[in-house]
Amino acid sequence: MVEVTDPKTFYITTPIYYPNNRLHIGHTYTTVAADALARYHRLRGDDTFYLTGTDEHGQKIQQAARERGVHPKEFLDEMYDWIVNLWDHLGISYDKFIRTTDEEHVKVVQSVFDTLYRRGDIYRSQYQGWYCTPCESFWLESKLVRNACPDCGRPVTWIEEDAYFLRLSDYADQLIAHINDHPEFIQPDIRKNEMLSFLRRGLDDLCVSRKRDSLEWGIPVPFDPDYVIYVWFDAVCNYISAIGYGIDDEKFNHWWPASVHLIGKEILRFHCIIWPIMLIALDLPLPKQIFGHGWLTLEGEKISKSRGNIVDPMVLSEKYGRDAVRYFLLREIPFGADGRYSEPALVDRINVDLANDLGNLLSRVTAMLEKYNEGFVPEPTASSGRLKEVATTAIQEVEEALSHHLLSDALAAIWKLVAAANKHVEEKAPWQLPNDERDQVLYDLTEALRILSICLNPFLLDATEEMRRQLGLTLETKTITWEDTAWGGLKAGVRIDRGAPLFPRLDPDVVLAVGKVESQSLDQEEISMIDYETFMEIDLRTGRIIEAEPIEGADKLLRVLVDIGETNPRQVVAGIAQHYDPKRIIGYQVVVVANLKPAKLFGVRSEGMILAAESEEGLRLVTLDEPMAPGSRVT
Ligand code: ME8
Ligand code: MG
Repeated sequence: MVEVTDPKTFYITTPIYYPNNRLHIGHTYTTVAADALARYHRLRGDDTFYLTGTDEHGQKIQQAARERGVHPKEFLDEMYDWIVNLWDHLGISYDKFIRTTDEEHVKVVQSVFDTLYRRGDIYRSQYQGWYCTPCESFWLESKLVRNACPDCGRPVTWIEEDAYFLRLSDYADQLIAHINDHPEFIQPDIRKNEMLSFLRRGLDDLCVSRKRDSLEWGIPVPFDPDYVIYVWFDAVCNYISAIGYGIDDEKFNHWWPASVHLIGKEILRFHCIIWPIMLIALDLPLPKQIFGHGWLTLEGEKISKSRGNIVDPMVLSEKYGRDAVRYFLLREIPFGADGRYSEPALVDRINVDLANDLGNLLSRVTAMLEKYNEGFVPEPTASSGRLKEVATTAIQEVEEALSHHLLSDALAAIWKLVAAANKHVEEKAPWQLPNDERDQVLYDLTEALRILSICLNPFLLDATEEMRRQLGLTLETKTITWEDTAWGGLKAGVRIDRGAPLFPRLDPDVVLAVGKVESQSLDQEEISMIDYETFMEIDLRTGRIIEAEPIEGADKLLRVLVDIGETNPRQVVAGIAQHYDPKRIIGYQVVVVANLKPAKLFGVRSEGMILAAESEEGLRLVTLDEPMAPGSRVT
């Protein structure tokens, strides 16, 4: 892996979140990771800027507000308050929180759209294809997997409208060259290779607008009020609008290009392909790195609202404390790979790593300082041995790991020092040593704790402060820097102030019995159950297929005529062409959704939907086991 070389300024961003619902612990992961990195760089004295925010336009938000019966802005303001409160609670030290409804952002997006249109990078044409609302992404027919969104597997909606397009196709070669010349640009390597193979298959131009009559919650196209700008085009611009692009050149030039965009792997394409091409077209430099981290999974599935397996970070943090949650996230998940969330694993990390290893070390050392030295840090009497070596190596390893944004590796390196210090207590048995030898051992152990209180500072907020308080270090007027992790900074004669254990041990039987956090956070609405009345609104009817034929240009679709007992048969466009020979299904008894809003697909009007089951084994039409009159109600 290649290091990001930028010693002076560090500009880190997380994706801006969709506030269509409360954030779950998966979202918290990106933000906590970026926070730890930002804190580390500030400690190093780097000029640091950490950007996060909310992605407030698009269909998802419009729908979420509509479901609650409020105006999107009202809904968004409430979500914004909730999110900011969560970040405060978790100690997220962002320098700016951007909302894409902010006036400056809106202006920047419009001017970017306008510039690209005038340069010919955006042009007007006709869009015919699919749209995945949960991902807010456009998909051409050929890209669908089993008639569903290739990213999330959910159903897609057909769109056929005049639209504006971004000329991605022109830039593929230039982007491939950039990726090859800058091996650090997309990380980890596995993500880089994914993006390269995607690019090598060739790029289709991207639809970057929606007609206002189908979606009004977005930024208007500046020169054509009938259209709003595609939400992803709008959202990625936050990385430059937040630092004053086109408004405050000095600020913008100071921070851009970003050091790293930290994102989840499912949104790589937007960040590694669409966004860089927009920047190339604008003659702006590309971010130095895009790091795609893995997912937090729960029982093997990505934690997400739509799967109903969310874990509320606020509830979790109120129960276990923010340091425990931060530590767990950053330690348990090998950065870049997927990691598992489970509450028992969290309790285990608290008991083993935090209470037993770290907390116990502090308790033992401060107890010995009180017992043998009246609570003062002794003068070193000889020279520091092994512990000094371990500490020096550990700090180097942390630096190395963090230069690649490998947070779990950094924590593992720090725990080598924790373990070595605990071992030092056992091996040296200070209680059996003569005074002068004991002084050296206690000095070394206290010094190790002082260093830990600094290098752990980006990860554990309250615990490091409490460590420093107990060690008498908060009396120093000077603010700490990363350089203070060098061995030997501890002053003899400082009075310590022994306190309560850093992390009390938890009884798993007790804490896990009081209700696992994931179940507390699920209300009816979040697990998307529907009531009986809602189900009854779907008008399902039996039907008999009387005609079927392929549709030109759509290799997955058939035009089917079904008799559902009405005067005229219904014409339905069905995505079954790859599974059924049209001639073979004539006479089939099927089930039709009769009150689906008509839509036009490939110019063919579709007046309903034929039910089918789908899995790895293929696709099967739902049929009746005995004949029945067409038009019978199915419930
Ligand atoms: O994607 N594990 O917003 P978002 C790890 N608005 N990370 C997870 C996760 C999980 N289970 N679930 C979500 C968006 N995330 C867009 C971004 S940027 C210009 C626009 C991460 O709210 C996810 O990978 O769906 C993403 O990085 C972030 O949370 C926000 O997701
Ligand atoms: Mg998402």
